[in-house]
Amino acid sequence: MIPGPAGAADAAALAALHAEAFPPAETWGPDAIALMLGMPGAFGLWVPGAGFVLARAAGGEAEILTLAVRPPARRRGLGGALLAGALAGAVARGAAAMFLEVAAGNAAARALYAGQGFVEVGRRRRYYPDGSDALVLRRVLTGPPAGK
Ligand SMILES: CC(C)(COP(=O)(O)OP(=O)(O)OC[C@H]1O[C@@H](n2cnc3c(N)ncnc32)[C@H](O)[C@@H]1OP(=O)(O)O)[C@@H](O)C(=O)NCCC(=O)NCCS
Repeated sequence: MIPGPAGAADAAALAALHAEAFPPAETWGPDAIALMLGMPGAFGLWVPGAGFVLARAAGGEAEILTLAVRPPARRRGLGGALLAGALAGAVARGAAAMFLEVAAGNAAARALYAGQGFVEVGRRRRYYPDGSDALVLRRVLTGPPAGK
């Protein structure tokens, strides 16, 4: 499964994947996704029917906006492949570091990010609609990943 580019024309299909991967209160609709993809420096990668990542690189820094894999497609390496693709896309756009937010209780995503060299650099209290905290993670993109 090699992810390919996703664009605003794919927004409805991306929203359907998002709705399968996240709780209803955190779901992004097609309009929100198309808006995200229209931001300067934004880009998307996906495997249709399985999962996608949206990211943005601007001013030498990059962020993961969202990462979603359909439950039946999980634990087969797709999340890791999407993240690796987003990291490569950020490097290609001149970013020196990648940031993201992840729910403190999201063990699957935290393990995925730690495995790709992300480290905790901050915490946003009660960031999510369910009242849970977000951890801010960062990976430096120049040189080897932190901790390796
Ligand atoms: C997080 C998510 C994207 C992972 O996708 P995935 O395709 O299952 O990820 P991978 O198969 O590439 O897993 C890579 C590694 O992540 C870790 N991981 C993934 N799911 C895990 C789980 N349920 N429990 C523990 N570790 C997990 C493991 O280290 C795994 O490596 P391994 O399978 O060799 O043990 C997926 O679970 C998802 O869409 N979750 C809901 C949405 C979400 O939380 N997005 C991230 C928001 S910041």
